[in-house]
Amino acid sequence: MLIETPRYTERFGSVRIHGTQRVLELDSGDEEEALLEPAVRKISRQAIAQIEKRMAIVIPIKGEELKLFEGVLSGIPHNCLIIVVSNSQREPVDRYRMERDALEHFCKFTKRPAVIIHQKDRVIAEALKKAGYRSILGEDGLVKDGKAEGMILGILLAKLAGKDYVGFVDADNYMPGAVHEYVENFAAGFTIPESPFVMVRNAWLFKPKILGTDVYFKKWGRVSELTNQHVNSIISAHTHFETEVIKTANAGEHALSMPLASILPFASGFAVEPYELMFIFEQFGGIKPTAYKEVVEKGIDIYQIETRNPHFHKEKGDKHVAEMLLASLAAVYYSSICDEETKKAIRNDLARHKVSPANREPPKPVIYPPIKNVNIDAFREAVKEIIPAVETMFKNSLTAKRK
Ligand code: GDP
Ligand code: CO
Repeated sequence: MLIETPRYTERFGSVRIHGTQRVLELDSGDEEEALLEPAVRKISRQAIAQIEKRMAIVIPIKGEELKLFEGVLSGIPHNCLIIVVSNSQREPVDRYRMERDALEHFCKFTKRPAVIIHQKDRVIAEALKKAGYRSILGEDGLVKDGKAEGMILGILLAKLAGKDYVGFVDADNYMPGAVHEYVENFAAGFTIPESPFVMVRNAWLFKPKILGTDVYFKKWGRVSELTNQHVNSIISAHTHFETEVIKTANAGEHALSMPLASILPFASGFAVEPYELMFIFEQFGGIKPTAYKEVVEKGIDIYQIETRNPHFHKEKGDKHVAEMLLASLAAVYYSSICDEETKKAIRNDLARHKVSPANREPPKPVIYPPIKNVNIDAFREAVKEIIPAVETMFKNSLTAKRK
């Protein structure tokens, strides 16, 4: 892959927020040449494959069409471990069963390992109890609904498999080619940094909408535009320099290095993506003292890579957008570094978009603790029964890593 080096990097305490990087060639061949130009960086297929062997891709899914799911699977590069966390219905039609069958079928022909679990599996809930992570359990003792809750389970499984990187790809992507690019971008991002604490976020150049019979290549989604604006306004308020560096506040397609994934707390539901950024800025923006000395020493790198493929996913209607906007802006609003000016602007935006009245504060997001203290051996032991092939499924990836 031939990729621009970041044109600028915004420093915020120990955090290096890199400006968006354009992809010049999706595939730049085998040769690992020295920099052709200081402005571009060449990443060979082998270098990308090496990272992909150490990466798990988590697909959260809830009731998506099977055809979309199968398309997404076909786009995940062969060397990545696939982890599917489903919250699809079991009755009257067992959609989870259908997803599992589709995945098994896929693995049989592609000869690759994969894991699928259901978010509401009682064994998973019990395993979490034994491993000392009860926060995502609801009153019924099972894991709560929500994409973020599914992502947390995905990260735990990736950790169990000994992976060094974990990426997320939604199951409702229409274009397998785009999925493939997202993952390649993650891998490319992980070849760049010095720090072990890295996040790679995909920036969509275009998010097309169908207007009548035409496709309109819209630059931003509605929710992203507003969230980016407020996150940037917080950074600007603290650094005293206006910035537009953040373009990916809502990037569902993003990836984390395991050391970073282990220390991040996660917000529930759709607040999860912007909250990751807010937490990092709060903790490591140099505003408050932090207990994580190693992170301060090494810094955190946030890369934002512009995708060449337009982002086409299932449009879920205005109610869904309103819900996302509320959750997403609430994550920004309740950050301890959110200034009064930005808070007011958020309340106004929520009112303008008729999501909540201007005089009312948005509901506070639920925050789950980081997984760093989870007893992963206890978790492994307890999930054995539902992932009987856990050792064999993971074996390929583990041997690949040792090589
Ligand atoms: P958007 O793309 O951000 O508008 O949100 P979506 O509704 O498309 O959700 C993103 C992904 O998360 C999709 O693949 C959904 O199927 C999946 N998802 C939504 N809710 C849940 C859930 O409760 N659990 C899991 N595991 N996945 C979910
Ligand atoms: Co979607």
